[in-house]
Amino acid sequence: MSDPNDLKSLLDEVWRHLIRGVADSRSPARYPTFITVSPDNKPEARTVVLRGASRSSGDLEVHTDIATSKVAALQYAPTAAFHIWIPRADLQIRLTASVKILTGIDVEPQWDRIPVGSRVSYGTLPEPGTPIPDVYAYEKLGDRARFAVLKCSLLEMDLVHLGTRHRRAAFVCYDDWAGTWLAP
Ligand SMILES: Cc1cc2nc3c(=O)[nH]c(=O)nc-3n(C[C@H](O)[C@H](O)[C@H](O)COP(=O)(O)O)c2cc1C
Repeated sequence: MSDPNDLKSLLDEVWRHLIRGVADSRSPARYPTFITVSPDNKPEARTVVLRGASRSSGDLEVHTDIATSKVAALQYAPTAAFHIWIPRADLQIRLTASVKILTGIDVEPQWDRIPVGSRVSYGTLPEPGTPIPDVYAYEKLGDRARFAVLKCSLLEMDLVHLGTRHRRAAFVCYDDWAGTWLAP
């Protein structure tokens, strides 16, 4: 980290982690915890793979199956949180986002780029979360119609850096990510 007192350099560092997470399967930012609120108002957290990160448009991308609970949750409340802990940087990243669920023709470019063997992640039968009579009583078919891209437009960031003296900062999209230090 170049200047520990510079908000912008902290924001730059966060984006470096996010962009690396998309490209590098060994990066901790590759596997954020993605949190939604269910239609019965319960928090739901699960691991996902970070598939896209664009600083210029301020968004992150997650791929999923439309039959999962997270999609029902996002149809009910189209906001989500991400949580990422980067051990080597001693950095906690918490993000909130408004989420659009894209399917069909809008996600053709992403579907076309998924290796055929990986497409089976989208289209499990019976649907994900359904009770089954024994452990492997399901099929993974790879169904294009079940594939969704969650386009997550970032709203807020809350960052905690553990150091000799801890640092915490908040950034919001509304002031163009100017940022402010917070008491940790
Ligand atoms: C390492 C790892 C990566 C995962 N990546 C994804 C993902 O990118 N998209 C996804 O929908 N589920 C992913 N899952 C599965 C989810 O964690 C979860 O079990 C599944 O999506 C059902 O979640 P839901 O019922 O809360 O929607 C991943 C699980 C693990 C362990």
